Amino acid sequence: MENKNIPVHVSIIMDGNGRWAKARGKDRVYGHFEGVESVRACTEAAVEDGVKYLSLYAFSEENWNRPADEVATLMKLMMKSIRDEVSTLMDNGVRFVVLGNRERLGEELCKAIDELMEMTAHNSRMTLIVFLSYSGKWDIMQAMKKAAAELSPEEFQAMKAEDFDRYLVTAGIPDPDLLIRTSGEERISNYLLWQSAYTEFVFSDVLWPDFRKPQFREALAEYARRDRRYGKVK
Ligand code: IPE
Ligand code: IPE
Ligand code: MG
Repeated sequence: MENKNIPVHVSIIMDGNGRWAKARGKDRVYGHFEGVESVRACTEAAVEDGVKYLSLYAFSEENWNRPADEVATLMKLMMKSIRDEVSTLMDNGVRFVVLGNRERLGEELCKAIDELMEMTAHNSRMTLIVFLSYSGKWDIMQAMKKAAAELSPEEFQAMKAEDFDRYLVTAGIPDPDLLIRTSGEERISNYLLWQSAYTEFVFSDVLWPDFRKPQFREALAEYARRDRRYGKVK
């Protein structure tokens, strides 16, 4: 499918793993395992279609409130994926970035993340961003504190919205053009609150483990049909 109006930054709230597993009479974690395949498929499609930034909401700050065994499985899965995907990322020229509140992440996981980020830092075909232990309100709060610590009171008062961007953990990354949420839920769930001010939203009823290349490309096609006005008259 030829699609000219390709978004620079596509972001996905990957939702519905638990329901996918439940529908098959399986434990929720099977949905997470199968969801990893969808991450692989969508990453591949994004690279092939010329998307420059693909970001994925993998684990929210609120998700720490899930049962301990589910949290542990998700963290182990993250660790395993990092180990398994190194060569694919390198082969495809993908830069890997993890963003979020690191305070509650294990030392071993942080080390693995840093190693993969360093190893892929010079890849330039696409940037894959994984939001882990992230929330939009947390990001805005940490940015505000950083700005307050760095700037004089006068500079702080004079700060404009554009100046604030560089204190967010997404500094240097363009705001998402397209945000996809799977599984039929139509909410932001404390994701990129500041950065999604003018993002186009596409909601899909498909559960994340079933969201593969065709569904990803359908969302891109839907985006291409949108008319972005940014408050102006066209
Ligand atoms: C998304 O699937 C994965 C994470 C939030 C980590 P869910 O686990 O939220 O699946 P549902 O929404 O319960 O079906
Ligand atoms: C949002 O999904 C977070 C991620 C996909 C990582 P949730 O399943 O946690 O969201 P809610 O609780 O339904 O809003
Ligand atoms: Mg969910």
